[in-house]
Order: sequence, then C-alpha cells, then structure tokens
Amino acid sequence: MAEQNITPNALPRHIAVIMDGNGRWAMERGEDRVFGHANGVESVRSAVRAAGELGVEFLTLYAFSTENWSRPAAEINALMELLVESLAGEVGELVKKGVRLRSTGAIDALPATCIAALRNVEEKTAHCEGLTLILALSYSGRWELTEAARRIVRAGIPAEEITEDTMRSHLGMPDVPDPELLIRTSGEQRLSNFLLWQLAYSELHFSPVMWPDFREDHFKAAILEFRGRERRFGRTGEQVLKTDHSQPENGVIEEE
Ligand code: IPE
Ligand code: IPE
Ligand code: MG
Repeated sequence: MAEQNITPNALPRHIAVIMDGNGRWAMERGEDRVFGHANGVESVRSAVRAAGELGVEFLTLYAFSTENWSRPAAEINALMELLVESLAGEVGELVKKGVRLRSTGAIDALPATCIAALRNVEEKTAHCEGLTLILALSYSGRWELTEAARRIVRAGIPAEEITEDTMRSHLGMPDVPDPELLIRTSGEQRLSNFLLWQLAYSELHFSPVMWPDFREDHFKAAILEFRGRERRFGRTGEQVLKTDHSQPENGVIEEE
C-alpha cells in the first residue's frame, strides 16, 4: 500500500503564523477588542515555547499588517503599547531560552517607543542561538516585494540579469528559509498579504481556534498534520513516493 512508503516530512525549519481572532474572542466575552489582544500574548509565549522545544529554527508571527493601520486609532495605540510592554517584559525570558528576536516590515512607520523597544530586544538577543522569532510589524507581502523591486533598481541590476535569486536576495530577510508551514487561526482562510513570495509552496493549516485560545497542543497538532502531508512541488504522487519525500529548500527541486 502506498501509505507504507510514505516517510513523514521532517520537522519544519520555519513556521509562519497569522495570529487571528483576538477581536472576536474578546467580543464573545462582552469585552473590548483590546482585551483579546492582551490575552493573545500568552498564546505567543506558548508558540515560542513549543517551537523552541521542538527545535524549529524560525517562527514568524504576523503581529501587525500594513492594512491594520486602517483600524481605529484607539486599537492601534493599544496594540503598540502592548507591543512595548510585552517586549520589555519578555526580554529576560527570551535571553534565558536562547531566543533571538528579529523583525520585518516598515519598522520606521511604528511609533518611536516601539522602535526603541524592538531595537533593545533585538540587540540583547542578537547573540542567542536557539529559535529565531521574527515579528512581522507594519508588514505586507506586496510592500516587501515593492521594496525589493526598488532595491534592485537602485543597485543598477540590468533587467536581463534578474532571476528568482535576485528577487529572493533583495527581500527583507534573505537569510531566512521559506516557511514550510503556515498556520492561521480563527477559521479565516486567506493570506491577508502575508509573505507572498515566501509562502509560494508552503503547506497551509487553518485552525478554527481563536488566537487567545491557541496553545502548545494546537501548535503541535499543526506540525503533526504537516508531517503527514505529501509535498509534491509540481511532481506526481508516484514520483514523490519513488524519491525520498524530502523537502527541497525553498521549493526548488534538485536534479535526481
Ligand atoms: C488578530 O486579531 C490581531 C491583529 C490583526 C493585530 P484580530 O484583531 O484581527 O481579531 P478579529 O479577526 O477581529 O477577531
Ligand atoms: C491579518 O489579520 C494580520 C495579522 C494577523 C496581523 P487581519 O485580521 O488583519 O486580516 P483580515 O483583514 O481579516 O484579512
Ligand atoms: Mg482578524
């Protein structure tokens, strides 16, 4: 039987998460949306813990999108304050766990207090060699691709020399491998302008759980499901079974 030949996918090196459902979670409880965001912080801790324990190398969390700037000012301010508080409160634990913090997005667009808090934690965890936690802030995939195009033009690279590698190397974090797995909570099934280039061949896991309820077990269940998926990268299922079912880096198939 075909199933017997399937070796599970390796643990993902990089998991990306669209943390969604904070507002609905709070409203269901008769609370303000901000209450949901505040409760989402514990879920971030859980995800970082689970990823760190399992040996995932990169965890990218969509914390604030370019489009989120259109939310009411009070909610944006509360989110920014929560970010500053959380960064200040967690830095000790991150260092202890060997978690390195990085960020991606139009960071300059954030309030000065957020930028300072972010840079502080980035500096204090720069030496950490465990999990790399990437916060996507004021981020959108189209913004990142547009920025890449600008950098390529500024570098004076001739059109005929532009390859996929040129694009990749001009993105925000060229040293980070593409996520093998994307998790989105709250039952929504869309990308909402997240990592458009990098998610080209990622496996998608949509969980009905609202982000403030998302815990280690949910995170591990997503990984377990991923491990059973057949990743074809354009090949046929038979070809995949004949080969070692390995996951080529960045979705590029090596010659057999
Ligand atoms: C995700 O939760 C957090 C951010 C987008 C900052 P939402 O705030 O989008 O929650 P819902 O989708 O309205 O429930
Ligand atoms: C995506 O969630 C952005 C983040 C999780 C930060 P949204 O809740 O903003 O997405 P849409 O607008 O429902 O697609
Ligand atoms: Mg939402």
